[in-house]
Order: sequence, then C-alpha cells, then structure tokens
Amino acid sequence: MSGGIHTAFDLSFTHTEGRWARPGSWIGRDFPDVRMFQEIAVTAERAGVDLLFFGDGSGIPDTWRGSIAPAVEWGIQWPRHDMSPIVAAMAGVTSEIGFGLTYSSTFMHPFYVARLLNSLDHVTSGRIAFNVVASTRSADAANYGFDELMAHDERYERMAEFIGVCRALWRSVEPDAILRDRATGRFADPSKVHPIDHRGRYFSVKGPLSAVPSPQIEPVLVQAGGSPAGIRTSAAFVELAFGFGGSVAAQQRYRTALDEALTAAGRDPARVGILWATQVIVAPTAESAAARRRDILSFWDEEAVGAHLSHNAGFDFSGLPREFRLGDLAERIRAAQATPGGLVGMLVDTYGEDHRISRADFFEHGWRHATGLDHTLCGTAESVADALEENFAATGARGGYMFSSPLATPSGLADVAELLLPELRRRGALAPRSAGSTLRERLCV
Ligand SMILES: Cc1cc2nc3c(=O)[nH]c(=O)nc-3n(C[C@H](O)[C@H](O)[C@H](O)COP(=O)(O)O)c2cc1C
Repeated sequence: MSGGIHTAFDLSFTHTEGRWARPGSWIGRDFPDVRMFQEIAVTAERAGVDLLFFGDGSGIPDTWRGSIAPAVEWGIQWPRHDMSPIVAAMAGVTSEIGFGLTYSSTFMHPFYVARLLNSLDHVTSGRIAFNVVASTRSADAANYGFDELMAHDERYERMAEFIGVCRALWRSVEPDAILRDRATGRFADPSKVHPIDHRGRYFSVKGPLSAVPSPQIEPVLVQAGGSPAGIRTSAAFVELAFGFGGSVAAQQRYRTALDEALTAAGRDPARVGILWATQVIVAPTAESAAARRRDILSFWDEEAVGAHLSHNAGFDFSGLPREFRLGDLAERIRAAQATPGGLVGMLVDTYGEDHRISRADFFEHGWRHATGLDHTLCGTAESVADALEENFAATGARGGYMFSSPLATPSGLADVAELLLPELRRRGALAPRSAGSTLRERLCV
C-alpha cells in the first residue's frame, strides 16, 4: 500500500438526519436529484479524493417501539435508494475517482450482484469497489422474507460462500476469451468460457457470468465486520477494510486483529489498508467550527435519537429499565443476534461490563452518539490535520480516512475538500497520486 493517507467521502447519509434542511444545504436540489451527486463527484475529484462511498440498508428503521413513524417523520436513515444508477451518472462527469457500493450477502443473490458490479466496472472504466455487508438490521431482513435475522456467525459463513461465488463468476470468462473477429464473425472462444457449477450450502449457481470481463475483472473488495467472525471471513478476500474512527485504542485493536487474521490466511497485512470512518467539522476558525457543532443538536428530536440508536443496534432501547448493568444489556443484544458494537460496545469499552448506568444517562450518551458528536473531529484545517496525522501514525499508517459530515450537504463536505485536503496535501501527508488507471491501482498498491 503506497505511503500516505488515502481519502474517501461517505455519501451514505447526505440528506438524512436533518442534513437536507440545515443551513448550507442545496437550494433547489432535493435527494435523489442526480445533479447533487454529480456536483459532489466533481468537487471531490478536483480535491483528489480517491473514493466516494455509498453504504446501504434497505429497511426503514422500525426497531424503536416497533414503528417506522419516528424514522419517517424525522428522515432517519431513510429514504435510501439503490445508488448504482447514480454511480453510473457520476462516472460520466469524472474520470479518476472511485465508487464504493454496498450490497448484503445475507439478502442478495451473488449472481445478480456479480453481474451488476461487472457492468458498473465497465461503465466506470474500472473504478468500482464492493462493500459486502452481513447486515445487522431486522428491518432489512423483513424485506427479504426473514422473520428474524439469521444468526450472526452464520451470516458470515454465507458471506464467505457469496464472495466465493462472485469471484468464480468474475473469472468464469477468461479475459482473452473475447475475440470479436470481424473476418470470421467469431465472437468468443468457448474453451475460455467456463461454467462454475457451484453447489453450496446457500447457493447453487451454474455460471458462467453472461458478461464481458470488466477492466478490474472484479471490483475492489471491501469489508467492515469488526467481530471475530467478521474479521476472520474478510481476511480471505478483503483488499481494503473500513473501520470506525474515533477511538485510537479500538482502532489499534481492530488493526492488530485484522493483521493477525490476514497473516493466518497467508496474506500480507502491509497490502491491506483500513479507511477509518471519521466524521469531521472543518471551518476557517475554531470558533466557527464549534458554533456549527452546537447547531447540530437542535436538529434532533428524542424519538429520532431512539429510532437511530435502536436501528443501528438491532435492539429496541425504548423498554430499558431505569437503571441496568452494561454487561447485561450487551448480552441481551448478542442474544437477539444483533451487533454489540456501536454505542453499547463503546460504553462497555469505556466503563466496563459491570458499570451500572441509568436510562437517562444512557440516552444522554445516545444523543451524542446518534449525532456523531461524541466522535467528531472539529476545528480548523490545521488542528484537524494535526489530529489525523497523529492518528494515522498510531494506527498502522496503511489506508486513510473516509470522511462524513454531520452538517448540511454539500457545505460540510465542501469544507473538507476546500480546507482540510489542501492542508494535508501541503504537508505532504496524502498518498501520492498513482498513474494507474483503475481504482485498485490507485488505492490498493
Ligand atoms: C465505515 C463502515 C461502513 C459500513 N457500511 C455499512 C453499510 O453500508 N451497510 C451495513 O449494513 N453495514 C455497514 N457497516 C457495518 C459493518 O458491515 C458490520 O456489519 C458492522 O461493523 C458489525 O460487524 P460485526 O457484526 O462483525 O461486529 C459499516 C461499517 C463501517 C465501519
């Protein structure tokens, strides 16, 4: 992995959680206007950003009180469209920046996803990354015929098979199989096009892929699962990992665990970077950055916080008792097959399993967690760049940062492009621009 910091913009929530209404949001453009995304893509490419990322989840948050009403009313993690056509449109106005799309191996079928990503890799001339997720949310599961979420570790077994099928399909047509011989009219050499004849526990796929091999052959494979099963599974294939930024100790633990798993899988940890998801507020002065930070809380309602937290944990926090032991809550979440990371994981990390917390204090933390303010880097370009350089050195110096903003779009990310990235570039902290033409050559070498 080339030295220096790589960068991405997280475009998963450009319009949700009130961003659509805050000062600095688009006037005359509303999600999902494709022109919003084309403008962001042009701005980000000009600033040297390597990747634009779209996370995904298909269910409207309904874990809090078993209702979608608060999420709908406050625009919490909804609406969310399938962003693949938007990526195609963004590719038309850019030439270098990459695009990361998310699909769930728990709910989707690998033949469909492999074929879609092959087409997008053609459309973007080799700029696609695939964030494969095991999915932690029951609202998503309910849209795909599941009464309850598949058991946590089984989701990762399914992911391993899913990726195996995709990779076999992407290689089922050899690159030199396509002849396009105008003199004879032969299109392709059948001896170089192979069925995959996969019969596994979850999928049966005959193959081959009904497609021309794409510039990257397969998209850059990304994974973010932080549990032991998630890390073990991703070690077999991940080219770039996503991790949660914000807590150096947790980042170091994740880096070490991933390195160990990669080594055990016979792979070189030096070649696999982690992009740390990092929320930032950058402004010309420390005072204006602090003022922007303060404004954010006013856009959140109590029900919105509950809907956000419960959805992400996969656990309804509305019934919490007046006081409880943190370890007991983490255990109940595990038993519900949800993920004990997120807010509860962070509280257990900070205070320990035996800590007793009141419901009021839990929601006080929850408010800052849902808004991201408990882990937002806030300040001038100089102070945020100082913090990032220090964090990068402390967490393995491989990969970089995926920036998101709690402020309105486009102004929050425009500040990153116009203030922070030039400062990092001036310091020589960013990874050098590579001459390669595909995303893999730019991001993973
Ligand atoms: C930067 C980042 C982006 C993620 N994007 C998504 C996403 O788009 N959709 C999703 O369902 N999960 C997403 N996740 C969650 C992870 O895929 C994973 O489910 C979560 O970290 C829990 O992993 P575990 O169950 O192995 O602990 C993301 C995680 C990170 C760190």
